Amino acid sequence: MSTPFTIAIDGPAGAGKGTLARRLADHYRLNLLDTGLTYRAVAHKLLELGLPLDNVSAAETAARQVDLSNLDRTVLSAHAVGEAASKVAVIPTVRRILVEKQRVFAKAPPGAVLDGRDIGTVVCPDADIKLYVTASAEVRARRRLAEIESMGGSADFATILADIERRDERDMGRADSPLKPAADAHLLDTSEMAIEAAFLAAMAIVDEVLAKRNKA
Ligand code: DC
Repeated sequence: MSTPFTIAIDGPAGAGKGTLARRLADHYRLNLLDTGLTYRAVAHKLLELGLPLDNVSAAETAARQVDLSNLDRTVLSAHAVGEAASKVAVIPTVRRILVEKQRVFAKAPPGAVLDGRDIGTVVCPDADIKLYVTASAEVRARRRLAEIESMGGSADFATILADIERRDERDMGRADSPLKPAADAHLLDTSEMAIEAAFLAAMAIVDEVLAKRNKA
């Protein structure tokens, strides 16, 4: 791979895009960026400072301070941080600052897998491969519940489903860079597909593009 190779993965929360991104990055030896963590880092900073999530100038400052090489998944994966992230993600200047950092990351050799909401549409519109990974809200809620229970916790299915639907609405309904499939994205619906099958389907798509690229 001479010029950086980019795989863009978008989709709603809980569709399995994070796992898919990790599998593809490992398999093709590409860098990996979960762009959700960058929005989570901004939200986490505001929560830590006790500032409202619509404080634009504080959010911009936090966005400028985001260091892609130092994103603490353990701290940032908290449910409340995800909720808050989808609120700061509506601020256009915050998006611009983070998108710039994400683009620099994508261009570093040998290339990268980036997952998020606007990778194929805004961050890397020229990505070699664009995948849109989705699943029904019910399936995503069921998976989330199973995950919570496997960690010894308990939760209510209806509450989780309502949370997911609210987050979808915010991510798909915002004016700036809403979640939607790029026109040239391959759709992968994981509602009735195990992640392994999704990985194999994605691999077939990537291998075909790589074969053409190596011939050119
Ligand atoms: O994927 P995640 O749950 O970590 O994302 C948290 C929030 O960040 C999500 O609800 C919307 C926002 N986000 C975004 O607007 N654009 C991205 N590329 C990634 C995440």
